[in-house]
Amino acid sequence: MTLTPLKTAVIGCGNISSIYLENAAKWGILDLVACADLDLARAESQAAKFNVPRALPVADVLADPDIELIINLTIPAAHAEVGLAAVRAGKSVYNEKPLALSRADGQLMLREAQARGLRVGNAPDTFLGGGLQTCRQLIDAGEIGIPVAANAFMFIRGPEAWHPDPGFLYQVGAGPLFDMGPYYLTALVSILGPIRRVTGSARITYPERTIGSGPKEGQKIPVETPTHIAAILDFASGLVATLTTSFDVAVSAGAALNLYDIGGALLEIQGTEGTLSLPDPNTFDGPVRVRCLGEADWHEIPLTHAYTTNSRCLGVADMAYAIRTGRPHRANGDMAFHVLDVMHAVLEASETGRHIELTSTCQRPTPLPVGLPERQLDI
Ligand SMILES: NC(=O)c1ccc[n+]([C@@H]2O[C@H](COP(=O)([O-])OP(=O)(O)OC[C@H]3O[C@@H](n4cnc5c(N)ncnc54)[C@H](O)[C@@H]3O)[C@@H](O)[C@H]2O)c1
Repeated sequence: MTLTPLKTAVIGCGNISSIYLENAAKWGILDLVACADLDLARAESQAAKFNVPRALPVADVLADPDIELIINLTIPAAHAEVGLAAVRAGKSVYNEKPLALSRADGQLMLREAQARGLRVGNAPDTFLGGGLQTCRQLIDAGEIGIPVAANAFMFIRGPEAWHPDPGFLYQVGAGPLFDMGPYYLTALVSILGPIRRVTGSARITYPERTIGSGPKEGQKIPVETPTHIAAILDFASGLVATLTTSFDVAVSAGAALNLYDIGGALLEIQGTEGTLSLPDPNTFDGPVRVRCLGEADWHEIPLTHAYTTNSRCLGVADMAYAIRTGRPHRANGDMAFHVLDVMHAVLEASETGRHIELTSTCQRPTPLPVGLPERQLDI
C-alpha cells in the first residue's frame, strides 16, 4: 500500500537540525516542505543546504494549511510555546527533548492535541535504535530472568569546557538530569514500563562555571539548577532502579561507557538469572552484552534490529506512518510526559526529603519487529 507523505516543516534550525534534515529526506513518508526559525537566516541556510523548498517565518509555517506535521527543534524553553502553537494551528508535532520545561505546559500540549485528534511525539528516539531494541527483545525473551534492578549513571565534568555557549545548560530545566536524563529514563521506561514513585538527592557542587572555549572563553556563568542528582526509581513492575546524573564528576572506575573521553556512564539491568549491559542510550548502536549465572565472562549479543547509526528522525517517521495507518506511535507524548514528571519528582523529593508518588504513567511502546528491513516501519 502506498501512503500519502505528510507535508512537514522543521521549526528551529540550530545544531541538531542538520541530522534531522539529512535523515528526513531518506523517509518517503515525510515530505519536507519548509524550514523556519526565529532567525530567518538560519532557516534559509539550512533549507539551501538540505534542498528544502522554502524558508519561512514561523507564523507563515503555522498558517499554511497544507503542512500537517511540525518537527520542533527549538531550545527547551521554547518547546511548549512552539509545540502548543503548532497544535492550535491544527498540526501534529514532534518535539526535541524535554517535552516542555514544566509539567503544566507539557500536559496542556498533550490535552489540546488530543482534543483535536492530533499527535504529539517526542525525542529521544534512540530507544528505537538497533542497540536498545535488541535489549528490549532480550528482556522480553527472559534472557536474564526476571528484571530485579537497574543501574544507570552518567558522569561528566560539565560541558562548559567544550560547549561555546553553555549558560542554558546550568539554568532551571537543564542540568544533567533534564538534559541527559531523558535518554536514560526513556531507555528504561521503554524496556521496563512505567515508574510508580521516586526519591532522590541533588546538589550544586560549583555555584559558578567558567566557559572554556569560543568567543565567551573566560566568562563566568551562574549555576541555577542541581548538577549532581542521585535518584531511586520504583517501577510499577516492582523493579528498583538507581539513576545518577552529574556534571560534577569526571572519572569513574565502574564506567562501562566512555563519554567524550573525559567522563563515564553505565546502564545495566540486573535480573534473577543474569545482567544485561546496555549501550549508551544517546546512541542507536550497541554494544549489547550479557552475563548469566555460571558464565565466566560477558558475551556480546549480535544486534537483531536495524538503525545503528545516528538515525534521529526515526521517531518522526514512525509517527508519520502511525498517523496514516491509525496505529499508536512509539516515541509518544505520554511517555515523554511521564519522563518529565519523573525528573521533576526527583528534584521535589530532594527538596522535601520524601518519596513522591507519580500520577502519570504510560505504556511500553510496541517493539519494532525483529528483522524489519531498514526504511520499513509498517508495510
Ligand atoms: N545539539 C545537540 O547535540 C542536541 C542533541 C540532542 C538533542 N538536542 C536538543 O535539540 C534541541 C535544540 O538544540 P540545538 O543544540 O539545536 O540548539 P540551538 O540553539 O543550536 O538551536 C535552536 C534553534 O531554535 C531557534 N529558536 C529558539 N526559539 C525559537 C522559537 N520560539 N521559534 C522558532 N525558533 C526558535 C533558535 O533561533 C535556534 O536556531 C534542544 O531541545 C536540545 O536539547 C540537541
